[in-house]
Amino acid sequence: MPSNTNSKNPSQSLTVMNELVLPNDTNTLNNLMGGRLLHWMDICAAIAAQKHANRIVVTASVDNVSFSRAIRLGNLVSLTARVTRAFQTSMEVHLEVWCENIPQGIRHLCNKAYFTFVAVDDAGMPTQVPELVPETEEDQIHFAGALRRRQLRLVLGGRMKPSEANELRSIFESNPGKP
Ligand SMILES: CC(C)(COP(=O)(O)OP(=O)(O)OC[C@H]1O[C@@H](n2cnc3c(N)ncnc32)[C@H](O)[C@@H]1OP(=O)(O)O)[C@@H](O)C(=O)NCCC(=O)NCCS
Repeated sequence: MPSNTNSKNPSQSLTVMNELVLPNDTNTLNNLMGGRLLHWMDICAAIAAQKHANRIVVTASVDNVSFSRAIRLGNLVSLTARVTRAFQTSMEVHLEVWCENIPQGIRHLCNKAYFTFVAVDDAGMPTQVPELVPETEEDQIHFAGALRRRQLRLVLGGRMKPSEANELRSIFESNPGKP
């Protein structure tokens, strides 16, 4: 595997994307369609992963996304993404989605999600990515939790045996009897 090991900080992959919700983006209730939002989230997160890897990336998985608040026609949707941890060839990216009614001056956090991308070479084969070094306290929190989230998604995706998921086991063993 070619070497691509210069470390980077989360701020180097920070990506901000703005979209205005237009009639063609909405359902019959004039709310933004979930699929359109996922499309924007995928693009924003992929750009962040590309900035970290300096490579083409493919989406490997998307953790659960819940649509807790409707985003209305005419709202500004601001997406921010940054890499939270890099592994061998894969990277976890955290996204926040804010919606804003500009005339009313109202802004809400609408969604949060983690996406996983894999850097690939020209032949589409997974290739090594630079290490990620967290800077801020918030970066440290995302970084620390990323191993547990990785193991969970690999177990759910049938790529890791539950018995091999040490990080997950330690959660249950340290909280016996808790739901
Ligand atoms: C993602 C993909 C490159 C993985 O290829 P692979 O041959 O399985 O490669 P590997 O088994 O070596 O895994 C490569 C990395 O992907 C990660 N990975 C694979 N499946 C994953 C999943 N479901 N969730 C999270 N990470 C995953 C592995 O953990 C590994 O990470 P690491 O190198 O940091 O440890 C390949 O499955 C692919 O090309 N998928 C289609 C991607 C695509 O088209 N996306 C858009 C679809 S809408």
